[in-house]
Amino acid sequence: MLPERRAHRAAQVPGRAPPIVHTRGVRTIAVTGMKGGVGKTATAVNLAALAAEAGRRVLVWDLDPQGAATFCFDLRSRLRGGAERLFGGDRDLRAVVKESSIERIDVVPSDVSLRDADVILHGSAKPKRILRRLLSGAGKRYDVAVLDLAPGIGPVTGAVVDVADLLLVPVEPAPLAVRAYDRFAAFAIERTGGPELLAPFLSIVDRRKPLHRRIERELHADPRFLNASVPLSSAVERLADEQTPTVLSAPRSLAAHGYRDLWAEVAERTGLD
Ligand SMILES: Nc1ncnc2c1ncn2[C@@H]1O[C@H](COP(=O)(O)OP(=O)(O)O)[C@@H](O)[C@H]1O
Ligand SMILES: [Mg+2]
Repeated sequence: MLPERRAHRAAQVPGRAPPIVHTRGVRTIAVTGMKGGVGKTATAVNLAALAAEAGRRVLVWDLDPQGAATFCFDLRSRLRGGAERLFGGDRDLRAVVKESSIERIDVVPSDVSLRDADVILHGSAKPKRILRRLLSGAGKRYDVAVLDLAPGIGPVTGAVVDVADLLLVPVEPAPLAVRAYDRFAAFAIERTGGPELLAPFLSIVDRRKPLHRRIERELHADPRFLNASVPLSSAVERLADEQTPTVLSAPRSLAAHGYRDLWAEVAERTGLD
């Protein structure tokens, strides 16, 4: 067992985390982690759709310069004023949000200026305060903010970890992915002082593979992991092609079931149920 993993286990309280008590209006759910291509954006897009379906007012904040979430909502990849103004201190998210075609979902689009976001926040004396101020402004108009992050543990991810109510981390059932999760968890625990905000779940599970089945069994016995998992699904592969959340385009697919289970756990953890 990796040393970080042992430390994390020791810090883990038995059982599942209790609902979070909120001091701010908007519940901030960050979809994050060290790895790319593991279903972060697909999760952000689908959970946003489920939250909106449940009657919540949703803000999707695309913080990845790739702009995949922006594209999935069929919006133009343009952040008015760019990253410099957004993180510069005096911006209100209202100045940059775009309405999506889905009722109750607005999006803060990404554009390439976000490639500088890590440098801007790194050079800032108070990155946490900047994000908190932007989100507390959003709290008047939205019930939930779903943040879609680029992979990694740079300054943007660090500041998001500092202010989020839940850190959803998709983990593929593969040894290196679990190891990357452990690294991410150590990073988040160091910043937040405990494992309470971490919500890892299994993503892109291919049950035809014995290794996936074995790791899935092992991780389901691990109380840190959510019960929900999202299977490998051609319906999710089509997400960027159809530019419609899977839970709407293929509501009966196994992946849509997985996202609904995931939303139920996320809503419970964040007091949105
Ligand atoms: N459950 C899934 N089944 C099949 N393909 C998936 C699944 N989740 C994500 N994908 C696909 O894998 C690729 C990477 O997913 P994405 O959500 O963009 O990952 P990330 O945001 O972590 O980089 C995309 O082409 C996406 O459609
Ligand atoms: Mg992504």
